[in-house]
Amino acid sequence: MKQRRLGVWFIGAKGGVATTATLGLLALKNRLAPPTALVSQLPEFADLELLDWDGWVLGGHEIRETTLLQEALRLAEAHRTFSKDLVLACQQELEALEANYRWGTLYNVGPTITELACPACRQQQGTAAESVARVQEDLQEFAQANDLDHVVVVNVASTEPPLQNLPEAATWEELQQLIQQPDCPLPASTLYAVAALELGYSYLNFTPSLGASLPALDHLAQLRGTRHMGYDGKTGETLLKSVLAPMFAKRNLHVMSWVGHNIFGNMDGRVLDDPANKQAKVTSKDRLVRHILGYAPQTLVSIEYIESMGDWKTAWDHIHFQGFLGVPMVMQFIWQGCDSLLAAPLVLDLVRFTERAERAGHVGRMEFLASFFKSPLGVEEHDFFEQFRRLQQWARQLAQVNC
Ligand SMILES: NC(=O)c1ccc[n+]([C@@H]2O[C@H](COP(=O)([O-])OP(=O)(O)OC[C@H]3O[C@@H](n4cnc5c(N)ncnc54)[C@H](O)[C@@H]3O)[C@@H](O)[C@H]2O)c1
Repeated sequence: MKQRRLGVWFIGAKGGVATTATLGLLALKNRLAPPTALVSQLPEFADLELLDWDGWVLGGHEIRETTLLQEALRLAEAHRTFSKDLVLACQQELEALEANYRWGTLYNVGPTITELACPACRQQQGTAAESVARVQEDLQEFAQANDLDHVVVVNVASTEPPLQNLPEAATWEELQQLIQQPDCPLPASTLYAVAALELGYSYLNFTPSLGASLPALDHLAQLRGTRHMGYDGKTGETLLKSVLAPMFAKRNLHVMSWVGHNIFGNMDGRVLDDPANKQAKVTSKDRLVRHILGYAPQTLVSIEYIESMGDWKTAWDHIHFQGFLGVPMVMQFIWQGCDSLLAAPLVLDLVRFTERAERAGHVGRMEFLASFFKSPLGVEEHDFFEQFRRLQQWARQLAQVNC
């Protein structure tokens, strides 16, 4: 049987997460690294017949003038994300990928992200409708040039500021009219999602940006028979919240306050240092504790850019709760992880499961992927283990169909 060819198109293709996912994929293809931290390699997914790494072709949109090799070397040398030897072992393949990158759209991304863009990228900008058309041309050219069976578009671009007072556009037809307006209020992340879904490609939003969160985008996915999921990857501190909060709930321990301070110094941190961009992230990190507990303790989430920390994030959480007889107690934890290394395997997993969902004919939101996201679309359940059970259940159902 002919090997399936899957295109993976990163929005933010030379950022920390995309570069690490790209290098990770090459390392896996070349058997240079073990599959540690890949959820899709767990035994419960062995019967799913997930696509192996050889059929993947990568490309994407970027706004900065740089190469993938430069970015990988920077992560190795300045951030100690992975070893320089690994980068050099994959150098030729990283260089060969350069042909697959195009300038992205800066439509409504706000001043902090616009400042990152190089002059060549800035020159290519147009209206919202022109941006969608240009992104679609790039995607179609990528699919044709590489003889692809399907494309999964993954948003791993910088976090956009949240937009206030977006007009109601419940249907795809209404949204289409909005896109045609010269002052269309939608951000780039949504225009990318429109471009992908309209072509029948799958779309994943790993960021807190708006992306495909509007109901009209789900409507578009339904109409085109394609699929999407988001948003905001659950990789570190919030992952721990979704594991620990159910424990407090199930032991009837009353959480009075939950404070989480995060410090890190990569480019994502620099963008989130703008209060407008930070707001999207804080909102996404803050909501799940009260969802899980069923009441609202006092919460505080801080995210501070500390340049010397580079890609290594430290989160310190202080949980003040009441035990028996109302006696106050404290739990604290410190999480120290490498941001890009936590995110990259999840991105590869999400693409793999999405490709499998495409083969199975899944249409609309992929709610079985909830455990990967801080704010899973269409899912009220925030308990990590309950969310993970949904993934296992989906896998079991598909495996039974295969039999
Ligand atoms: N690393 C994690 O653990 C993690 C967890 C959850 C979510 N995220 C989110 O993933 C995203 C990527 O994180 P990162 O650490 O790679 O950030 P990064 O700043 O290293 O990379 C973002 C990349 O996107 C590019 N970009 C920005 N706007 C663009 C646009 N409109 N079109 C095309 N490219 C654009 C930037 O030039 C940059 O290369 C962020 O939104 C972050 O909040 C990361």
